[in-house]
Amino acid sequence: MSIKFNVNGFPYEVQAADYAPDTTLNAFLREHLHLTATKYMCLEGGCGSCVCVIRRRHPVSQEVQSRAANSCLTLLNTCDDVDIMTDEGLGNQVSGYHPIQKRLAQMNGTQCGYCTPGFVMNMYGLLEQHGGQVSMSQVEDAFGGNLCRCTGYRPILDAMKSFAVDSTIEVPPECVDIEDSFELLCPRTGQSCKGSCSRPPLRDQSGSHWYWPKSLAELFSALGQVGNGELYILVAGNTAHGVYRRPRDIKHFIDVNLVPELRQYSIEADQLLLGGNVTLTDAMQVFLLAAKRPGFEYCAQLWQHFNLIANVPVRNNGTLAGNISIKKQHFEFPSDVFITFEALDVHVLVYDNPSTQRVMTLLSYLGDTTPKLVLGGFILKAYPKERFLFRSYKILPRAQNVHAYVNAGFLIEWQDIQRRIVRSARICFGNIRPDYIHDEQVEQLLPGKDLYDPATVAQIFQQLPASLQPEERPPEASPEYRQILACSLLYKFLLSTAPKERVRDSYRTGGLLLERPLSSGSQTFETIKKNYPVTQPVQKLEGLIQCSGEATYMNDLLTTSNAVHCAFVTAKRVGATIVQIDPSAALQCKGVLAFYSAKDIPGSNNFVPVDQFTPEVDELFAAGQVKYYDQPLGVVAALTHDTAVYAATLVVVTYARYQGKIYTSMSQVLAEKQTDRIVCSKNNHVEPLKLPPLAPGDVLGRGILELESQYHFTMEPQTTIAVPLDNILQVFCATQWMDATQGAIAKMLGVSVNSIQLQVRRVGGAYGAKVTRCNMVACAAALVASKLRRPARFVQTIESMMESNGKRWACRSDYEFRARASGSIIMLTNNYYEDAGCNLNENVVDFLTMPSLRNVYNLTDSNFRAKGNAIRTDAPSSTWCRAPGTAEGIAMTETAVEHIAFTCQLDPADVRLVNLQPGSKMVQLLPRFLASTEYRKRRTQINLFNSQNRWRKRGIGLALMSFPLNTTVGLNYPVTVAIYHEDGSVVLSHGGIEIGQGVNTKAAQVAALVLGVPLDQVRVEASNTVSGANSMLTANSMTSEMVGLAVRKACDTLNKRLAPVKERLGANATWLQVLQAAYLQSVFLVATESYKLGDIPNYNIYGLSLTELEVDILTGNHLIRRVDILEDAGESLSPHIDVGQVEGAFVMGLGYYLTELLVYDRQTGRILTNRTWNYHPPGAKDIPIDFRIELLQKSPNPVGFMRSKATGEPALCLAVGVLFAMQHAIQSARKDAGLPREWVRLGAPTTPETVVLNSGSQVEAFALQ
Ligand SMILES: Cc1cc2nc3c(=O)[nH]c(=O)nc-3n(C[C@H](O)[C@H](O)[C@H](O)COP(=O)(O)OP(=O)(O)OC[C@H]3O[C@@H](n4cnc5c(N)ncnc54)[C@H](O)[C@@H]3O)c2cc1C
Ligand code: FES
Ligand code: FES
Repeated sequence: MSIKFNVNGFPYEVQAADYAPDTTLNAFLREHLHLTATKYMCLEGGCGSCVCVIRRRHPVSQEVQSRAANSCLTLLNTCDDVDIMTDEGLGNQVSGYHPIQKRLAQMNGTQCGYCTPGFVMNMYGLLEQHGGQVSMSQVEDAFGGNLCRCTGYRPILDAMKSFAVDSTIEVPPECVDIEDSFELLCPRTGQSCKGSCSRPPLRDQSGSHWYWPKSLAELFSALGQVGNGELYILVAGNTAHGVYRRPRDIKHFIDVNLVPELRQYSIEADQLLLGGNVTLTDAMQVFLLAAKRPGFEYCAQLWQHFNLIANVPVRNNGTLAGNISIKKQHFEFPSDVFITFEALDVHVLVYDNPSTQRVMTLLSYLGDTTPKLVLGGFILKAYPKERFLFRSYKILPRAQNVHAYVNAGFLIEWQDIQRRIVRSARICFGNIRPDYIHDEQVEQLLPGKDLYDPATVAQIFQQLPASLQPEERPPEASPEYRQILACSLLYKFLLSTAPKERVRDSYRTGGLLLERPLSSGSQTFETIKKNYPVTQPVQKLEGLIQCSGEATYMNDLLTTSNAVHCAFVTAKRVGATIVQIDPSAALQCKGVLAFYSAKDIPGSNNFVPVDQFTPEVDELFAAGQVKYYDQPLGVVAALTHDTAVYAATLVVVTYARYQGKIYTSMSQVLAEKQTDRIVCSKNNHVEPLKLPPLAPGDVLGRGILELESQYHFTMEPQTTIAVPLDNILQVFCATQWMDATQGAIAKMLGVSVNSIQLQVRRVGGAYGAKVTRCNMVACAAALVASKLRRPARFVQTIESMMESNGKRWACRSDYEFRARASGSIIMLTNNYYEDAGCNLNENVVDFLTMPSLRNVYNLTDSNFRAKGNAIRTDAPSSTWCRAPGTAEGIAMTETAVEHIAFTCQLDPADVRLVNLQPGSKMVQLLPRFLASTEYRKRRTQINLFNSQNRWRKRGIGLALMSFPLNTTVGLNYPVTVAIYHEDGSVVLSHGGIEIGQGVNTKAAQVAALVLGVPLDQVRVEASNTVSGANSMLTANSMTSEMVGLAVRKACDTLNKRLAPVKERLGANATWLQVLQAAYLQSVFLVATESYKLGDIPNYNIYGLSLTELEVDILTGNHLIRRVDILEDAGESLSPHIDVGQVEGAFVMGLGYYLTELLVYDRQTGRILTNRTWNYHPPGAKDIPIDFRIELLQKSPNPVGFMRSKATGEPALCLAVGVLFAMQHAIQSARKDAGLPREWVRLGAPTTPETVVLNSGSQVEAFALQ
């Protein structure tokens, strides 16, 4: 009755009955073993923060396989006889660090560090799986399931690729000991497994049964225990739960991993048999073997296709039968296994009982309703390449780890291969409509025809759109796009397989899919030795402990076992008034302790401080009228997280009927001219422009830029742990602004501020999400803790964060221009609107957008007018998101300038040159940048490429930036520096928050320089609300400098106090001697100082980017071929950190402009993209292939702290250049399509759908010649 396994070499034995039947390995590691290096965020296999390595003996080969796995999906009860490795087991401060951990830290691969253990373990799994023999491209391919929001991936990939056998990256000597870790022993005995771990089924308190059959007979005997109407699951990888959530009331869990019949494979001359529960990774290995056999060459194509399914850890554990079963249960699921197998007419071997097998087609299996069928295997036929042709396609919204927009498989049987006459065809498409898989019309059309004959091709594309009618299913892409895309895939197939001479030269590249070469980067910066360690490219202070998972985040903190977990109950009827809330069903749920709503709040129902940024009340719990869909209206407290989340769905809410209309987006407000919702900026220009008369050649134009919202996607969820201690509440909150969180909790509870004390060690990614939105969970957890007098832990799920929390201000600009033929601007007006959500808190319109609009240009009161408006919508209150307002402001003006260049038919660089603000730094920087990036030459080459390629287009886009850093919001940043007389080591604590931006490292560098001690003698301790009382928010890129300045003040104070002692002891006295003498003389060795308003005045940060991309016009997919960024960081305090900030911000900008699409049901206001399954920040293979960063040299900032400039946010603004590169590419396609020359409205995000729908492709015109 026990499950035995090793974790990091230590044996564990657990009684399955002691745990809920669906306890995951992640929960066990974290909550029971307190091994918190393994993190979690999405709990659905989509983010990689939970990856660990599992060594498991294969039931057929008996080989011990070592594989990365998502611990959030792996069920504990499937872990018998396995060996689990977690990051802390790999290396730590006691036993020494592992080379992967060391190298990742050395190579600047961490920022907030929350994603880091997942990356380390994924790499470790990859190395173990391949015995250390991996290539750089294998490495680069393996991280599709690991998301990092901070770094922009480049340094992570560099560090990981340095372990490859073909690495061109300098290898530090530590890596040789990697070999030590490849010893594979039986996890339990230390010897080879005897295969004798059979156990009887057991029953846990929930009434569920687990079974571990070791043969088909045992499997059916377990199935025999399943009563009529009882739910059961055959547990293989349990990864399907990451796609569709498993029902809660499963009574029988049958682990099929040890049934040899289901895990075997065989390759015969005429068929390949794959056991039902062969994992996708194992299947891919078999494909590689089979592809070398005659008749199975097509398996190489299958390998390619499977390589795009999910991600490495999911493929390592997810199985073929599991995938097909999802399709059986949810016919709309765009299964890649299904579409490829169906095109290949794969048959399935199905067991009704251990001795009765049936072979059936896939489609008949999907339709078979016989209960308790076991999918035993897949039979793949031989298709000799002389007689058959097979290709399959999967087009996805980013490079990896997303399900298909559309997938397809095509199998052609030749009647006469020489003359390309078709005997039969299987033409299959996925994600069109549940009832549409084969295009029967085309399948019937082709037999007897020459596949590449112009008439055949014309006929195909005349009839295909009619039969291919995708259903509308948001948030899936539009039917229009999916229809064109499906047709394009068949066209691509024809282009790529037709004899060369039958395809027009310029069409050929249309037959290919984009192929991404290995990425690389360069980083150029200057250092100033005399200031070391300031300006030195040092390793991040907490880099190593982040890489080993020893760095703790809020949710890693242990609270006592009487802690409770929280979840929001949310309102679903926008505009309606809540009449009654009935929590009785939730309270009856086992493990639920309490439900609280607005009436239980002792103080004010508001989670923001009422101040300059947040003048309006933001209700903690909806009290009257519901302001937006999924507005929290209460909190459930329960003994487990899952129970709290589930019970929250049981609370019944009654609403009063609401007759009014709701407006969930700006466009609805503007379309219906709801003027009472439009709040004009106080700073709007009102005086009309006095314009000179039109001159010959003057151009006029207008346009609209729409930038949708963006979800912050912090890897660490919104988290708070509130612990009642003595008579105060100790709060551990992932906040960027302790002062506001502390104040909000105190006011909400109606207690004095000093009875709420916060401690924040670090935050796992913030980007603005944790300025005020973190207070939602903070206040709710504090309420629960204070009511129940028990520790309360509130970790918001990704769904809850995406549904209930505000995001970036969406924005729209209506601009109008007049320019001379030279591009010189005579007039530019910009009427812009920004979506505030349900209140005007954190308004960016005046404060951040307006000052950025003039950017680097000569826009004066005589040629420029701007009117800003905030729009109230029935949506969560929008919040700041990296470069809030400023990114939008710069994008609006840059877009207008591009549009002017387009209208004048001039090179956009030239139009920028004529409009630069005279005397600005950009006047020197731009020509230099154009020369160093070879802009003109490359533009010419691109135009040549475009003229030679009909379906592949390139584009190049320039973006300029003058980022106005507004320091007037920095009132206080207290810092305490203490020196220990015992050994001279230094500790400091500050009121800022380490959110990954490196404030701690920079603060320590400054302290080391000013005090004159080695950097490794300085530690930075957690921020708290005693020494960091009243500190301002960590945001606006400014905190590192402001904290650094306060550190310098404090160190100066200490130096002053020590000066007389030093003088007395003489120049030869050591640091320690001075301190010990000072201590004996009662010199106070602790100094507290603060940054104060005005210490650093406002200044501007200049930057330039040049983005080159290539687009597949048939699919809309792109590759970012090269990006150059030149950014003025002054004298960078810490160049590795600043380069990391620039790279990370830019890549977050790429997500904003290209992949991160939020979809809503506009009738109700419900968000439809609330998971990693349907929201897509960039992954490791979405970054620029060639990524060149230069921090401007010899450019001290006269007003900056130690002549530096801020770097956290600005580079996000430079990502807008990608839209201009896209415009360049699309224009060429439109020209080829014969469309009139017109500016195309591209905004954020410009997805593959936008590209295809704007490129003018006409399916009916698809031809080979
Ligand atoms: C993040 C993520 C991304 C993904 N992306 C893709 C993608 O791009 N394309 C794609 O096609 N898929 C994708 N998937 C789906 C993935 O391929 C499946 O989750 C996986 O193959 C399921 O296998 P499993 O062994 O984990 O099934 P489990 O979760 O263990 O089981 C799933 C179902 O299969 C049934 N079952 C299992 N074995 C048998 C059997 N032998 N006979 C009968 N029934 C059985 C179970 O009863 C259960 O109902 C993704 C999944 C995740 C989590
Ligand atoms: S938490 Fe497991 S993949 Fe995200
Ligand atoms: S360092 Fe990767 S998410 Fe922060």
